[in-house]
Amino acid sequence: MTEFKSKIRTIQWLDTFSRMVDQTLFPYEFNYIDIKTGDEMFAAIKTMIVRGAPAIGIAGAHGVVLYAQELNKLPRDEFIKKLLEKADYMTTSRPTAVNLMWAVDKQKEIIKNSKSDVKGIIEELKQNAIKLENEDIEINKKIGDFGAEVVPKSATILTHCNAGALATVGYGTALGVVRSAFAKDPTIQVFADETRPRQQGARITTLELTMDGIPTTLITDGMCSYFMKKGMIDMVVVGADRIAANGDTANKIGTYTVAIAAKYHDIPFYIAAPLSTIDINIKTGDEIPIEERSHDEVTHINGKAICADGVNIINPGFDVTPHELISGIITEKGILRPDYKKSIADVFKNL
Ligand code: MRU
Repeated sequence: MTEFKSKIRTIQWLDTFSRMVDQTLFPYEFNYIDIKTGDEMFAAIKTMIVRGAPAIGIAGAHGVVLYAQELNKLPRDEFIKKLLEKADYMTTSRPTAVNLMWAVDKQKEIIKNSKSDVKGIIEELKQNAIKLENEDIEINKKIGDFGAEVVPKSATILTHCNAGALATVGYGTALGVVRSAFAKDPTIQVFADETRPRQQGARITTLELTMDGIPTTLITDGMCSYFMKKGMIDMVVVGADRIAANGDTANKIGTYTVAIAAKYHDIPFYIAAPLSTIDINIKTGDEIPIEERSHDEVTHINGKAICADGVNIINPGFDVTPHELISGIITEKGILRPDYKKSIADVFKNL
């Protein structure tokens, strides 16, 4: 397996609290924030102090431990009832990334099935959160290594948003593929879409890739077809927030546009995501809930208005790329290929 190069640890459980990189400060500061209550964790996810599907999954698992610690004086039955309510509440902090529901469900299984007393349940929840955290890095390294096999020699890889170490516990999914490919072939490079409105590509992807010395060029969102036509993009790799059972994939708004452009120019378009991002309970992307975000994200940049006052605004945070546009879904179990209905069903059957 490829050696883990990036030293970024986005989120970590530390005895009684959760420590995370505060992603609202990028690119001006790289600082940590300690989250000590369940409500603080809810707010950290909602305000995107922590963001990226796998990272908010782990944050949700930590949030359940924080709520459990706060409820520790209650009798066991009441503790379980209240904690399950708090766990469900935690999943409402952001709607699209299914990793949040997945990780909180893992904690709920412990709450429901444990035979321990309150103190014991809290300890089991902590240990499970730490296990999920560590597994996330290992899963990303596997995704990276499978993905590196389809990266052409000296490739220029286009990515959208940030599906990197800072969107996971560490290493990244789409940027995990980049890291593993770069470890084998240091002549590859990345083109990073700016990713309006919140500029995760500009603020986060360029930051973490330059920290690791991976050559990166920042482009604005509208430029991708221009560079594809010029033959300057060899492949696209992006992350995912939720993948339906037929392969339709929700990811950051603008991903669909990149996928259409890639198809037109005959450029391979890959999704890199752990199996926890696949929601086998929904048949197609039409069923994926799309987060509607604050209008300020569109009307303002760094607190300054960029448009006429009073203009109409719509701000969906994600779009759904139809499965027909996807060349492969790179997971920790290998690369899933069309027909996705079959390849996804098969991989879950064999888990
Ligand atoms: O709104 P964000 O910043 O949480 O959106 C992040 C993305 O869309 C990522 O591409 C996705 O979560 C995959 S992260 C490995």
